Amino acid sequence: METRTALVTGAAQGLGREFAVALAGRGYRVAGIDLVPQTETAGLILDYVEVVADVTDETQVREGLARVIEQFGTLHVLVNNAGVYPESAFEDTTPEEWRRVMRVNLEAPFLMTRAVLPHLRAAGWGRIVNIASAAVLTAPPTMVAYTASKAGLIGFTRSLASALGPYGITVNAIAPSMVRTATAERTVGADGGFEHVLAQQAVPRVQLPGDLVSTLLYVVDEGSGFLTGQTLNVAGGSAYL
Ligand SMILES: NC(=O)c1ccc[n+]([C@@H]2O[C@H](COP(=O)([O-])OP(=O)(O)OC[C@H]3O[C@@H](n4cnc5c(N)ncnc54)[C@H](O)[C@@H]3O)[C@@H](O)[C@H]2O)c1
Repeated sequence: METRTALVTGAAQGLGREFAVALAGRGYRVAGIDLVPQTETAGLILDYVEVVADVTDETQVREGLARVIEQFGTLHVLVNNAGVYPESAFEDTTPEEWRRVMRVNLEAPFLMTRAVLPHLRAAGWGRIVNIASAAVLTAPPTMVAYTASKAGLIGFTRSLASALGPYGITVNAIAPSMVRTATAERTVGADGGFEHVLAQQAVPRVQLPGDLVSTLLYVVDEGSGFLTGQTLNVAGGSAYL
């Protein structure tokens, strides 16, 4: 079988880096797009293709993808992972902040998908994986914009699955609960978020990026061609779908 190729957004750190490394470990050729250089990720993956670009900017997405295609010649897997999750009281959420969250978490997956689609179609096989959140189920009061954006991403996942099924492309979402990444530690974690989620969980420990890997690999697996439009809730029993 030809070598599969994958593109992960937000691959500089956190879940994106974990996903990129896991896919490389499975034999995929991997590229990553992030706002910042992905030095650590590149150090862990042989022949990693690093693109520094803003996934909310259509031109940067197009140019970045052209570099990836130049290297790989084709593309099979897109992981829409880049995301922001600011916390604020609803009353303090400005229209600017609302739009920023929507652009990164919802519009960027649309822009990325639109850009990669001709290549996945040409390959005749594809997997699109959107990283949503169990916040859609737990509905935290200080993350209204975030929860709305991830609920939108789940709707996007379902409808897109219907649209792309005929091309041999599956579209699924993964919804983690709180995961110990540096950003989560610094933001939601600083307000006792980990303790709060842990108290709701059936699994008595904090989720780590590695806890999402088997689900990602399952979704992109050759044998998962009948799994599409689904949201896989990986939340340690803190929320049920
Ligand atoms: N960590 C958690 O607790 C948690 C829980 C549920 C869902 N998620 C989701 O998982 C994803 C990753 O979370 P994380 O904790 O690893 O985040 P993170 O902040 O560690 O990593 C996100 C990466 O995305 C990049 N990024 C942000 N905006 C970008 C843009 N406009 N263009 C290009 N790159 C951009 C950042 O530079 C960063 O490297 C997000 O979509 C998040 O909503 C995280």
